[in-house]
Amino acid sequence: MSGWGSGYVTDITYMTGYYRQQSPSMIALGCLLGGVASPMPGPDDQVSYLELGCGQGFGAMVLAASNPSWRVTAIDFNPAHIAAARAWAAEAELDNIRFIEADFATLAEDPASAEVPQADFVSMHGVWSWVPQPVQSGIVRLLRSKVKPGGAVHVSYNALPAWGGALGMQRVLRECGTRLGSRSDRQAEEGLKVVQQLHAAGALQLTRSPWVHSLLERMGTLPMQYLAHEYINSSWAPCFHADVAAAFADAKLEWVGSVNLVENFPDLTLTDEQRVVVQRFDDPLVRELVKDVCLERSLRHDVFVRGARRMGPQLRDAELMELSLALNISPEDMPYEADMPAGRATLSRGFYGPITEALAAGPRRVGDLLSLPALDGKRDNPAELIGILVGLDMAEPALRAGAEPGTQAMRFNRATMSKLMRTENPGRAIAAASHALGAGAPCTLFDLHVLDRVRQGEGEDDIGEWVGRFGGNLDEEGRGKLREVFSRSLRVRLPILRASGVF
Ligand SMILES: C[S@@+](CC[C@H](N)C(=O)[O-])C[C@H]1O[C@@H](n2cnc3c(N)ncnc32)[C@H](O)[C@@H]1O
Repeated sequence: MSGWGSGYVTDITYMTGYYRQQSPSMIALGCLLGGVASPMPGPDDQVSYLELGCGQGFGAMVLAASNPSWRVTAIDFNPAHIAAARAWAAEAELDNIRFIEADFATLAEDPASAEVPQADFVSMHGVWSWVPQPVQSGIVRLLRSKVKPGGAVHVSYNALPAWGGALGMQRVLRECGTRLGSRSDRQAEEGLKVVQQLHAAGALQLTRSPWVHSLLERMGTLPMQYLAHEYINSSWAPCFHADVAAAFADAKLEWVGSVNLVENFPDLTLTDEQRVVVQRFDDPLVRELVKDVCLERSLRHDVFVRGARRMGPQLRDAELMELSLALNISPEDMPYEADMPAGRATLSRGFYGPITEALAAGPRRVGDLLSLPALDGKRDNPAELIGILVGLDMAEPALRAGAEPGTQAMRFNRATMSKLMRTENPGRAIAAASHALGAGAPCTLFDLHVLDRVRQGEGEDDIGEWVGRFGGNLDEEGRGKLREVFSRSLRVRLPILRASGVF
């Protein structure tokens, strides 16, 4: 481990990933569903977006590519991350994003902080509970000076008590791994083997933890970069929500809701008996504590606002009615049952059927969806419709519904495809920049490849050639599966990406 990382892993880079919770439209929805006035960006707004701990910057670049009028700033202290991100942005000719190499422990007091603009939205994913306390304090000082009044901050972190059962496992993984390996990914690999060995030997504190079971089950599939950045840092410390809220209060930031939208609905997440306890308390922090002991909420995605303005349900619903949604699934894949923390929920066919059919033709306003003539059910609850469709990943908010595909977004998607195809598993979930959504549209690298080929005039008849190119060393069965992947991408995913304005 280097001397400059304050115990954070710096010898291997983190992987690229897109997390929809980081997009301003989702953050704004977290505010609205929490009953607080939303800074939902308008189509032509000049949003200032700041990402702290951006890694190789993929998420920040998707947002910059999707929204040419925004100014995106992304910061990380690892020069390998910043160098990779700048090269990628240059290849895609993105000119509305800036990457800054800086350490949060000292940035707020550094003259370099003048380069960081005031922000409407800030997001930090995978940072807070992985860095030492002086770095957390530096983040809060930075937020104090850089979040605009009314601005919103998204922060994810490993949460207690859900992570409690894994504390011993992380400590063993790190302490043993660092003694058996030199580079962080080797340390993670060796540490995990020790956990496995102890688990097999009946170590009580490991065998009774569901966390350890689930980690060992997924052992062969988890990228070593993830394991190293998750478990090998010296300051890995899951935290209680109220402690994060207390830290953020120093930056005048108030907790307002969750970007995991379903979590904003006690009816969908808690049993009747659990709700009785929650309702005894006015204090939102105590309510969240009670929820955290009821739920398996290990990674929280919280939204804080600087100057939260409460709004009544009428005003909130009026805003939600104006939001447009884009469908993210094919209507025939619509699940009419969903597993919710409070149990299995049935989604009415008479209500969600006509809505998904209407959305299949393209993005629609929530108000228009709730006015569809054939609808069988209540038409006055836009929050629940959004909570279900967006919260369960069936739809995405669309900031510019119907907008032409952006040239900047398309250029970025092409650059991403040719760059990641060289290094990543093509089945990996990523996102395509979309000007219509103002955010990423979920897809895989396979989808981006098929999209590129279709734009070159190829189609169904060329699937055999695509399979030959990607599956050269696969057996007949493997080639058959690959053919199916390409065929589904062409038939199902591309129409969805088209309706989401990606091309
Ligand atoms: C787990 S990674 C998450 C990266 C990205 N947000 C994502 O979710 O893919 C945490 C990131 O925080 C950065 N980081 C850690 N400590 C930092 C510090 N003191 N100052 C600036 N960046 C830091 C790391 O280099 C790393 O890129």
